Amino acid sequence: MQKLKIKGPVSLNGEVEISRAKNAYLPILAAILLTDKKVRLKNLPNLRDIKTMIQLLKNLGVQIEEDGDYTVFDASTLNSHEATYELVKTMRASIFVLGPLLTRLNKAKVSLPGGCAIGTRPIDIHLSNLEKMGAKIDLRAGYVEANTDGLQGAKLPLKFPSVGATENLMMAAVYAKGTTVIENAAMEPEIDDLANFLNSMGAKISGIGTNKITVEGVDELCETDYEAIGDRIEAATYVIAGLMTNSEIKVTRFNPEHLEFVLDKLIDMGAKLEIGKDYVKTFPSKLKGAKIETAPFPGFPTDVQAQMVALCAVVEGNSIIAENIFENRFMHVPELMRLGSKMDQQGSSLFIEGGAKLVGAPVMCTDLRASAALVLAALVSEGETIIDRIYHLERGYENLSLKFQKLGAKIEVINE
Ligand code: EPZ
Repeated sequence: MQKLKIKGPVSLNGEVEISRAKNAYLPILAAILLTDKKVRLKNLPNLRDIKTMIQLLKNLGVQIEEDGDYTVFDASTLNSHEATYELVKTMRASIFVLGPLLTRLNKAKVSLPGGCAIGTRPIDIHLSNLEKMGAKIDLRAGYVEANTDGLQGAKLPLKFPSVGATENLMMAAVYAKGTTVIENAAMEPEIDDLANFLNSMGAKISGIGTNKITVEGVDELCETDYEAIGDRIEAATYVIAGLMTNSEIKVTRFNPEHLEFVLDKLIDMGAKLEIGKDYVKTFPSKLKGAKIETAPFPGFPTDVQAQMVALCAVVEGNSIIAENIFENRFMHVPELMRLGSKMDQQGSSLFIEGGAKLVGAPVMCTDLRASAALVLAALVSEGETIIDRIYHLERGYENLSLKFQKLGAKIEVINE
């Protein structure tokens, strides 16, 4: 079993280049099912979740080949409408194929994703709004079976600005007859990226960047070349690493505007940052505690909550962090306490006593972003930390140990 061995405390230096965004490319990969023309995607990150989605496309009959920095997809040979449990159970984002398959083939059979560590994560918003577009949805033997005589444009007020539901419905609306208006849509930058990708293929999507997205149905899409935005969550992780280790590092190739709320919060805490067009530089800073509430974009992203908990554990002063998006996203807390942090969870709020002097110990990953929090804490812990179950990390952080080694961290992958 592979583990990470990290020696601390360290200070970091140099530059780290951010990969393309996992949560932009996952729906974009699903959108490939919408067209029988060639789609060329640049710099797909080498991540477990991306590989899983590519395998799912192959299972549906999509042809795939590498061409330098590009991966070329041809869905003209699509020969199935069914996404089986074997793959869907390993990655919830597989549900993104539901909308594209249904709108292109008038039928789709996708395994229900099941729960995951951070919450029940239902898909009721996806399904109820597909029904409003004319889909007949049956839940049978763990599968969503969707059929239609042809999706119709509709007004879709979302009861919650769900990222996945907004993306699935946007893709379903591309070929729906007439106009679809998604209201109370999620506004994460990855959704803008999906809309821009679809428009680059000839879709007619407007209201990008707002919570009201309008899609005019079209009959076909053309081929396209596309490169997704930088991964703002990966970027936030490295910016916090620079601040936690009191270092000067430059985090490049992403749009800091996609992290405005996080960067503002860090500056409020005393962080010295240089914010450029496509980079953020950290400088040694004296930070104090914070009060943070996770919220849909443009609020504080839930995907940066665990990393912020690790930071707040070591800065001077107390912090309160409320997780308002997922019902069980504090599994990093008991692991961070093994390293010596002092915190107390009460329901969806976490009370953190800052100023902890962390000491290395064996810890265990529980989910993707919790794993990142453990890496950050290990960088500043006295002595050696062994992090187990690092397959969670490999889902969303490309070349993490290599990137941190280049920044001067004492980190290596070991087999035990
Ligand atoms: C996306 O998940 C991201 N995943 C998550 O990132 C991210 O944490 C989340 O958005 C919130 O920003 C991808 O983009 C692949 P939601 P998604 O639908 O689409 C409830 C990571 O670390 N809800 O906005 O599943 C749901 O239970 C991952 O990269 C319903 O009730 O998020 C949750 O409480 C983790 N019914 C809340 O909405 C629905 O039909 C947010 O879920 C859908 C969602």
